[in-house]
Amino acid sequence: MPSAAADTAPADDRNAEAALAALREELRGRNDLPPYAALATQPVFGEGPIGAPLMLVGEQPGDEEDRQGRPFVGPAGRLLDRALAEAGIERAKTYVTNAVKHFKFVPRGKRRLHQSPDAGDIAYYRPFLVREIAIVHPRLLVALGATALRALAGRPLTITRTRGLDGLRTPEGVPFRATVHPSYLLRLPDAESAAREYERFVADLRSAKEAAGA
Ligand code: URA
Repeated sequence: MPSAAADTAPADDRNAEAALAALREELRGRNDLPPYAALATQPVFGEGPIGAPLMLVGEQPGDEEDRQGRPFVGPAGRLLDRALAEAGIERAKTYVTNAVKHFKFVPRGKRRLHQSPDAGDIAYYRPFLVREIAIVHPRLLVALGATALRALAGRPLTITRTRGLDGLRTPEGVPFRATVHPSYLLRLPDAESAAREYERFVADLRSAKEAAGA
């Protein structure tokens, strides 16, 4: 006979999926979105299983993410996928999301130039991120870059000072760690520092996986 836990788990997951869908709809329906959100194709929420032990938080959707409506599917996402595989982390078992849910850009002819979210953008989307975290309920969050770090910490912190630190918690009490954003690795000018920094990034991910028991 199936256990009570087995009976309730799928229903819990269905409730969580419904709560995430409601959160998406709530954001779509907001009439006080930052002005740039009107230029974006769609809000991009996270992807991955409810209850994933590890939740990765990036900055905001980029050009390809905005078009596809999925996080980390562009060049930074491809680098992240490679690093996750090297760290022994299955992306399919990890929840991947962003601090800011709309692509912020300025149009330049046919191109859309990425703009970094400011403190106001981060604060605007933070309640949505906090609720997404509460629904997914990961054991450990990983901030990829400064925007995610500010969103998770709820205050400005630097990657240099927080990278490698254990014991950090969001104001809501969820443990998190910080590492660099994969786009930073793509921008490094020389091959030697790119290779070195990439290895550090993989090591950060591996250590996060162990800490999360993932
Ligand atoms: N950069 C991010 O921070 N998030 C994405 O989804 C893609 C690129």
